[in-house]
Amino acid sequence: MPSKSKPLPIYILNGPNLNLLGSREPEVYGTATLAEISRRSAARARGHGLKVSFRQSNHEGDLIDWIHECRSSGSGLILNAGALTHTSIAIHDACRALGKPIVEVHLSNLAAREPFRHVSFVARAATGSIAGLGAHGYELAVDALAALLEE
Ligand code: DQA
Repeated sequence: MPSKSKPLPIYILNGPNLNLLGSREPEVYGTATLAEISRRSAARARGHGLKVSFRQSNHEGDLIDWIHECRSSGSGLILNAGALTHTSIAIHDACRALGKPIVEVHLSNLAAREPFRHVSFVARAATGSIAGLGAHGYELAVDALAALLEE
């Protein structure tokens, strides 16, 4: 019987200032650190038989390069682009070029915040979005991406 090839990892990419989670405005973003979120996401992905490549950068170009890398080395993308969500057409274009499912995630409920956070260039290129559920949103995003990859 031919051996089943291993699925490529899912990419979970995090943008500017998310390295500060845990101490950054905990009343808005919660108290979980990015390292905790990474562990929880990896555990959730394991339950679906998936591996995770979890990364953070404060630099737009890094995120774009990693989205490009995901075209050949990833099976799908979970993206919290931080404030770049609301400004970066370059990240929007990279997402459009990915050709794989994308789940946008935000810890905070963007719709209930300042008007400048109501525009998301990521949402326009994503398969779907999860916002306002704190760190738990990442685990839900893993579930959603796993379901999309099953389709
Ligand atoms: C965020 C929301 C953005 O508006 C903000 O700039 C962030 C975090 C979130 O996860 O809630 O850095 O993406």
